[in-house]
Amino acid sequence: MAKEPERVKQEKLQEKLSRGGKVEMLDEMTDEYRGHLTHLMMMQADSELAGAFGYVPWITKSPDIKETLQVAQIVKDEVRHARVMYRLLEGVGVDVDRYYKEHNFNLRVDQADIGTLRVADDKRVNIFYYPIETWFDFIMFNFCMDRGAGHQLEDSLDCSYKPWCEGMEGIFKEEAMHMAHGDQWTQRLSEDSKTHAGLQKALDKWYPRTMNIFGRKDSPKNAIYRKLGLKKRDNEEVRQAFAKDVAGLCAKFRLRVPDWKPEASKMSEEPFIPG
Ligand SMILES: [Fe+2]
Ligand SMILES: [Fe+2]
Repeated sequence: MAKEPERVKQEKLQEKLSRGGKVEMLDEMTDEYRGHLTHLMMMQADSELAGAFGYVPWITKSPDIKETLQVAQIVKDEVRHARVMYRLLEGVGVDVDRYYKEHNFNLRVDQADIGTLRVADDKRVNIFYYPIETWFDFIMFNFCMDRGAGHQLEDSLDCSYKPWCEGMEGIFKEEAMHMAHGDQWTQRLSEDSKTHAGLQKALDKWYPRTMNIFGRKDSPKNAIYRKLGLKKRDNEEVRQAFAKDVAGLCAKFRLRVPDWKPEASKMSEEPFIPG
């Protein structure tokens, strides 16, 4: 059968999206749709995998045997999320085996602040370039980043690419458990006068890093994602939902919400995706 012209595909796709339909097959995608979808899913896949690798040392460094199992479970969840996402990427034509071999997901930076810069040519959200150096870091990563990812990924649960929505259902549930792990520990460490200050210090470090992941307000790229049904909300709306959530919990746990200012010139247009 002759290949359908791009213009015809475009009209059919737009018509489908305008009535809330979902894309299921590769041959329904325009080049534009496939390109943006691949990019967003790659950001998620790489972040899931780099996240898992960053947690690995804490399997053996955790405070007790119960936590060793907990961290091992979280690592396994993140590797599974990465596997789900790379499978989806194979489905849109990515040579995942080759990609995996060509990138170093163990790479970490030692700078305290890389703003919104990318460090290497993988597509992970840049917060995954920071090392997790203490148990406070581990907990604040759960508390801030898993929460940020949850807010960000809400849109993917009901996006226009059906296989992604289906993959997200299980991922979302497991992410909620990681966040709950962070919240339980945050409460515990904040209530103990010996650990409260250390926890606050880690929050001061991870909160601004998480606020940086959402991308620039009114980003033109985000508008394209929304047109294609790959996103539903503006970057700023997602950031504010996250900030409000954290502010409520900080009040409950007697923690101070750290300052954060958007660095307009450094702020990427790109919305992140998860961890
Ligand atoms: Fe994950
Ligand atoms: Fe997670």
